Amino acid sequence: MRVVKVSLGNRSYKILIDGGLLARLGEECARLQLGRRCAIISDTNVAPRFAKAAERSLARAGFETVLLAVPAGETAKSLKTVESCYDGLAQHRLERNSFIVALGGGVVGDLAGFVAATYLRGIPFVQVPTTLLAQVDSSVGGKTGVNLKAGKNLVGAFHQPRLVLCDLDTLRELPPREFRAGLAEVIKYGIIRDAALFKRLELELPQLLQRRAETLATVIARCCQIKADVVGQDETEGGMRAILNFGHTIGNALENISGYGKYLHGEAIAIGQAAAAKLSHNLVGLPPGDVERITGLFQRAGLPIGVKLGRAQLAKLLAAMQLDKKVSGGEVKFVLARRIGHVEFGQRAPLDLIAETLSHTA
Ligand SMILES: NC(=O)c1ccc[n+]([C@@H]2O[C@H](COP(=O)([O-])OP(=O)(O)OC[C@H]3O[C@@H](n4cnc5c(N)ncnc54)[C@H](O)[C@@H]3O)[C@@H](O)[C@H]2O)c1
Ligand SMILES: [Zn+2]
Repeated sequence: MRVVKVSLGNRSYKILIDGGLLARLGEECARLQLGRRCAIISDTNVAPRFAKAAERSLARAGFETVLLAVPAGETAKSLKTVESCYDGLAQHRLERNSFIVALGGGVVGDLAGFVAATYLRGIPFVQVPTTLLAQVDSSVGGKTGVNLKAGKNLVGAFHQPRLVLCDLDTLRELPPREFRAGLAEVIKYGIIRDAALFKRLELELPQLLQRRAETLATVIARCCQIKADVVGQDETEGGMRAILNFGHTIGNALENISGYGKYLHGEAIAIGQAAAAKLSHNLVGLPPGDVERITGLFQRAGLPIGVKLGRAQLAKLLAAMQLDKKVSGGEVKFVLARRIGHVEFGQRAPLDLIAETLSHTA
């Protein structure tokens, strides 16, 4: 088993990575000195597959569980679903020392985390991520929240989990498109912090796409380590945590203008990262060879690197970018790469150059 520690003083926690971990959920929770009652929040795709194993393990360790299943998909990340979860928790009399287990992808993790952050002014929670994206990214770092009509993740809270348990076996059932979308975040870690990881991904992509356990374990642990390091240094994104947003300024705007559902998050940020690589070449001298390696790896992973946008759509995308909650003082700031493995945040990029870059990507 691989163990990665997120160091945040008295809010520190461990990320466990291995096959067969769901069966150990109960005993791992028992170490955390939590109350006896817990609610498993999951979705209608994940619950039928994995909730039984989670419930059995928790029961064996002496916990009383209740299962709350929300609809699958991004639209469930809403205040309406949050309210239905609160009702479920109240009905089953969860108390201050009771806890929540978030069993599912990033949608469930963000939603259940937000419910945990706010119910009774905050109760503990444990992340059991079941998508690649959630295992390498959303389950770690304590960002929780839901969407508003006005945009994604506009309501939320920082609330760190007490434990993250990544069971590699759950990834076997993940649809191929979802798996590839997760790879977009994996590749991101190589670009922002780790040239050796990037190289490993270039070499071992076939094994990764076959979901070979050993390759998955090594790669997921490395990604979690990078995220843990970044979050450990800048929990609430005062500065350097922003490097995790490489490719996200354009990616998030693209998700926004095309309506949730057209692009998966990973697909949108693959396009965003390819565009950010080109901007990096123009603005901070990322070598052309590195731009090619970046776009090449996304393509080999089966991810899009460009988008055909008409004039009106391009204008909408630029406008959406300026609405991003990370924009301050009306200025769009980018994370740009000087080379693979090294990025800088807070870089200004002129709108006309962004427009030109995007119009050449399709
Ligand atoms: N909090 C953060 O730091 C952070 C970071 C990145 C992304 N996010 C959020 O994460 C969300 C996206 O997460 P996601 O990509 O995991 O999407 P998701 O949670 O919607 O999961 C994708 C799909 O796969 C299904 N699924 C999940 N696990 C499965 C499994 N093991 N087998 C079969 N099907 C399975 C789900 O039901 C869903 O239909 C977005 O809302 C995004 O905003 C949050
Ligand atoms: Zn992302």
